[in-house]
Amino acid sequence: MTREPGDLPPRMDVGPPVGRERTYHDACLGGYWPSHICFFKVSSMTAPPITLHVCLNCRSPEDADTCRAGTRLHAALTDRLDGRDDISLSGVDCLSVCKRPVTVAFAATNKWTYVAADAIDPDEVITAAERYAASEDGRVPWRERPTLLKSGLVARIPPQPETRR
Ligand code: FES
Repeated sequence: MTREPGDLPPRMDVGPPVGRERTYHDACLGGYWPSHICFFKVSSMTAPPITLHVCLNCRSPEDADTCRAGTRLHAALTDRLDGRDDISLSGVDCLSVCKRPVTVAFAATNKWTYVAADAIDPDEVITAAERYAASEDGRVPWRERPTLLKSGLVARIPPQPETRR
């Protein structure tokens, strides 16, 4: 078969894995569009919100005991995320990476959990959260990661079913 300019490649309807309902994103995985140009890649259209954990107790060396970097970052994120339903903010006591303030973690059902440190800029944290939310399983491609998910990355933890052997 000869394709003319403007013809679309044939559709290959692969469908979702057994046991999971079809989502918009399945159209990209098995349909016309490669996933990197997918118009439906904003998985928040169907996905529940991801959770962004922020350590409230992280403290920079110059911080007073009553005004900690973690609390300030959490407050800045609260302002910026007001009205959004794709990222659920969670303040936590400690993520056990205390020497690299501020520590944050990105978590969601059926996704890898990412723990990152040295989080200072709330806009970068939100960018990281958005890339995480848009990823299929939590693993953000290296070229799409902000610095927080490169040099700031402390650990990634597989989703629960993958821990079973
Ligand atoms: S005080 Fe922030 S990770 Fe422990």
